[in-house]
Amino acid sequence: MFTLGILTISDKGSRGEREDKSGEAIREIISQFGARFVDYAIVPDEKEVIESKLIEWADKGGMDMIITTGGTGLGPRDVTPEATLDVIDKTIPGFSEAMRAKSLSKTPHAMLSREVCGVRNRTLIINLPGSPKAVRECLPVILPALPHAIEVIKGEAAECAGTDKD
Ligand code: MTE
Repeated sequence: MFTLGILTISDKGSRGEREDKSGEAIREIISQFGARFVDYAIVPDEKEVIESKLIEWADKGGMDMIITTGGTGLGPRDVTPEATLDVIDKTIPGFSEAMRAKSLSKTPHAMLSREVCGVRNRTLIINLPGSPKAVRECLPVILPALPHAIEVIKGEAAECAGTDKD
């Protein structure tokens, strides 16, 4: 069991002009892990607002994982990766690389997402692209490694989980 916050980043969503189907898709996919949802928010594509929500949830909320959706592209207002990079202590390039690599078989537009994954204190932060379709294509790629990643970040892993070949 781990705790999770979902942060949807969307100007329209934050004004109530768009239903948040991506946040719902994350909730649906991740529930198979027995996560406890502790918070959910929709914020506009404003770097300072995104940063302060990530800091609040990671530091005061003590969440195990925060998943964001939206704002990872090339639009003038897309700043989620920059906000994430500003608040994390370590990047986890493997998660972002794996999601982009796998997604390329679905759409060449996967190359346009600049999603970042990393760790702040004891909290894993994952950026996902903004569409529900992209969430459904990207999040399942990293699911198999999430439980062990969270254990290691929390300092709870007795030893690294091996592969079949070990
Ligand atoms: N990745 C997958 N797997 N599937 C998609 O449909 N859409 C792409 C990309 N990544 C997509 C994807 C598109 S069209 C964009 S513009 C970028 O994610 C950035 O999306 P965002 O700005 O909503 O985060």
